[in-house]
Amino acid sequence: MVLSGGNNILFTEDYDGLLLTPVSQGIAVLHDDGVSVSVRVDAGVEWDDLVAWAVERGLWGVENLSAIPGKAGAAPVQNIGAYGREAGDVIERVEMYCVESGATLTLDRAHCAFGYRESVFKHDLKGRIVITAIEIRLSRTPQPHLGYGDVEREVEARGGAALRNIRDAICAIRQAKLPDPAVTGNAGSFFKNPVVDATVAEKLRADYPDMPAYPVPETCKVKLAAGWLIDRAGMKGFRAGRVGVHDRQALVLVNLGGATGREVLDLARAVQSKVYERFGIAIDTEVNIL
Ligand code: EPU
Repeated sequence: MVLSGGNNILFTEDYDGLLLTPVSQGIAVLHDDGVSVSVRVDAGVEWDDLVAWAVERGLWGVENLSAIPGKAGAAPVQNIGAYGREAGDVIERVEMYCVESGATLTLDRAHCAFGYRESVFKHDLKGRIVITAIEIRLSRTPQPHLGYGDVEREVEARGGAALRNIRDAICAIRQAKLPDPAVTGNAGSFFKNPVVDATVAEKLRADYPDMPAYPVPETCKVKLAAGWLIDRAGMKGFRAGRVGVHDRQALVLVNLGGATGREVLDLARAVQSKVYERFGIAIDTEVNIL
């Protein structure tokens, strides 16, 4: 099994096999027409090193994805996303090694089936390929995306929509809400935000007028905030022995020290039950559970 940064995975038992991890570190400009720049990034590059690299060179496209732990090769798998942007917005191609045939393949974005925390790599290609590199397209033309939450205010406080300010603002917002996995064991958002029919959201809204809800473009669906649901179900900051629900972002489960994967999983199930009892909404886990 290939384990990238291991940032989005929960082991519930020992793994009886060989784990491989990509170590390749290259970032290479493939094409630069003065406006858009294609960049090939090896799977082993830390994602945030790539973001820093792009921001230093005045290249737009990944700045909203600052400070996400993990390696570049894992980015397309769950289509990492934050603050209104997703890796799939910039990924043009994914290079991979086919486990069955031994061939090296390249998949264009059109075939990656990117969606909200979704891609073909989590489904049809799961276990069948190893991602070796990604190719992304960045731009020299400023294209700030500041519409999400506090981003605009934090960017303005730093002097306006320059790349550096956006990166700094996003890093600060994340630092304030999300625990650092190097200090407190966690896998980021443990749950996905549930996407429900608009009618379901409307009914809930009648009872909870302050409930965040984001219409999914071109559908009759609405994305709800699992963090808000967990929070309102009274679970934010909840602790059970050595595991807990993070006290500043209820989507994140934390290992308070020495907990087993099983204990984390039990807490996750308890959170799911509480949310279901309170709102009738089922929330799915986002991390890979092994
Ligand atoms: N909220 C609460 N209580 C909480 C958490 C959130 O009331 O404990 C409310 C917030 O006030 C806000 C709404 O819920 O109105 C959404 O919260 P937030 O903006 O923090 O984002 P999120 O939907 O909870 C998602 C991603 C994060 C990403 C942020 C910012 C998922 C599963 N999670 O969280 O991704 O950083 O948006 O874009 O989509 C990750 O995947 O590991 C991750 C951290």
